[in-house]
Amino acid sequence: MFLKNAWYVAAWDHEITRELQQITVLGEKICVFRSEAGDLVGLEDACPHRKLPLSKGRIKGDTVECGYHGLTFDCAGQCVWAPGTGRIPSNAKVHAYPLHEKYGLVWIWMGNPALAETSDIFEIENYGDPAWGINRGAAMELDCNYLLMCDNLLDPTHVAWVHQSSFAAEATKDTPLRITKTDDGVIVHRWMMDHEPAPFYKKIVEFEGNCDRLQHYEVRYPSHALIKAVFTPAGTGGPDGPLHEKTFVMDSYNFMTPTNEGQTRYYWFQLRNIRPHDEALSEMMTADVQHAFDEDRDVLNEIQKGMSNKRSPHIDLPIDGGQLRFRRQLQAMINEEQQVDRQMAE
Ligand SMILES: [Fe+2]
Repeated sequence: MFLKNAWYVAAWDHEITRELQQITVLGEKICVFRSEAGDLVGLEDACPHRKLPLSKGRIKGDTVECGYHGLTFDCAGQCVWAPGTGRIPSNAKVHAYPLHEKYGLVWIWMGNPALAETSDIFEIENYGDPAWGINRGAAMELDCNYLLMCDNLLDPTHVAWVHQSSFAAEATKDTPLRITKTDDGVIVHRWMMDHEPAPFYKKIVEFEGNCDRLQHYEVRYPSHALIKAVFTPAGTGGPDGPLHEKTFVMDSYNFMTPTNEGQTRYYWFQLRNIRPHDEALSEMMTADVQHAFDEDRDVLNEIQKGMSNKRSPHIDLPIDGGQLRFRRQLQAMINEEQQVDRQMAE
């Protein structure tokens, strides 16, 4: 089940063009394209006559012509031409999804269009700030339910075993976690003091010797994550410490879009507070992060299979507290939304 009254990432902005294209979000097939003026359009991908996907038809200016009998739809999903009688049946229309471009991503609203507010899209601090560098990778296809990646991004401990060549340090195994529930999600975080930086960060930080390190793992409803990493010279970090001028901050943004119950499209990029124009650094970060996320994908795809074919019940550990709170609250939001929808339909 999915939360429908929410913004999800539908695509990178460059992926949607003047070519008709089918995407799948929350199990719904959507025909996406750009109008002649470059505006984004998303229509239910099924002609109401015999349900041929509109994406199999033709784009004609700012309309789409069905490839079966030529029924033609405008950008709002209204049929503007139908063959036969000279008049258009009143129920000849398809759902039009609100779309919005932000942060180089195309966002889609999957619920009631009347409730879509673009100001509700995930807020990204420092995006577009010339003092911050950015690196991005391609979208990743995961063969698992989106909540397994949400779990992963509320789990700072897994790096000790899954990412040994990049994000792991001895301290990531057992330093206690702190869990905070916010209005729009859950944060799991911890400071680890005075240890050697993990291999990936050692290449990047601009100070020598040991570090204090923050892992801030935050997931907001329905499935958007901010993973903040802070590294300061040992002795200058911690929740109250004034941060050192050589502090390195990396904000990793992660957006999980359910394709369906068993598949997820995963979009990510990182912002950093150092050397914003250093292209070689951006490329190195993208390559290393991609490698680490491939490690996550391999584990999560296997977990999907393992959890759907259990011989015995699985167990939870104290480190799972953040994930369990997140899932419980999201499920409550989904239940409420479905109840209201049922009530409105009566
Ligand atoms: Fe990971």
